[in-house]
Amino acid sequence: MPGLLASSPFAREIAGVRARAAALMRAAPVPAPANVCALLEMLVEAELVCARRYAALARGQLAAGHNQLGALFLEQAEEELQHALKLGARIEALGGKLLDVPAGAVGDGSDVAVEAGRLEIVAANLLGERGVIKLYRAALRYLAGRDRESRALLTALLADEERQIMGMGEVVSPPARRAH
Ligand SMILES: [Fe+2]
Repeated sequence: MPGLLASSPFAREIAGVRARAAALMRAAPVPAPANVCALLEMLVEAELVCARRYAALARGQLAAGHNQLGALFLEQAEEELQHALKLGARIEALGGKLLDVPAGAVGDGSDVAVEAGRLEIVAANLLGERGVIKLYRAALRYLAGRDRESRALLTALLADEERQIMGMGEVVSPPARRAH
C-alpha cells in the first residue's frame, strides 16, 4: 500500500521510527545495556505515536456520537500508554534515565490529523500497527539470546499488538452473528 503510506502520517511516523531503530541496530550490533536503552526509547516513541493517534480517533468518534467505537479507541490509547510506561520502567531497570511519560504526553488527540472515512482510518491503523509489529520483531531478533527480561517484556507487548491488529478488522466487518 505505497499510496497509503505516503498519505498516512501515522504509518509514516512509525516507518520513520523503524528506520531509525534499524540504523541503531546496524551501528551497534552488540545489545549492551546502553544500546538496548536507546532502542527501547524508540519503542516508547512508537507507542506514544500510537497512543496519540487512538486518542485522536476516540475524540472524533465520540464527537460524532459513535460511542462504542470511541470507547474502543480510548481503551486502545490507554493500552499503548501502558506499553510506553512498561518500556520506561525497563529502561530505568537497565540503568537508563527514566523517561518522563506523563498522561499529558498523549493529550486529547486534538492536534493529530486523522482520516475522514472509517475504511481509511482502519487501513491506516493496520498499516501503522503492522509497522509496530515489525519493529518489535526486529528488536527481539536484536536481543536474541541476551537480556531475558527485556525479551520477555517485548514478547508480551508484541502479543498485545498482534491481538489489537486482529481486533481491528472487526471494526470494519464485525464477525457474523452466530445462528441459533
Ligand atoms: Fe502498543
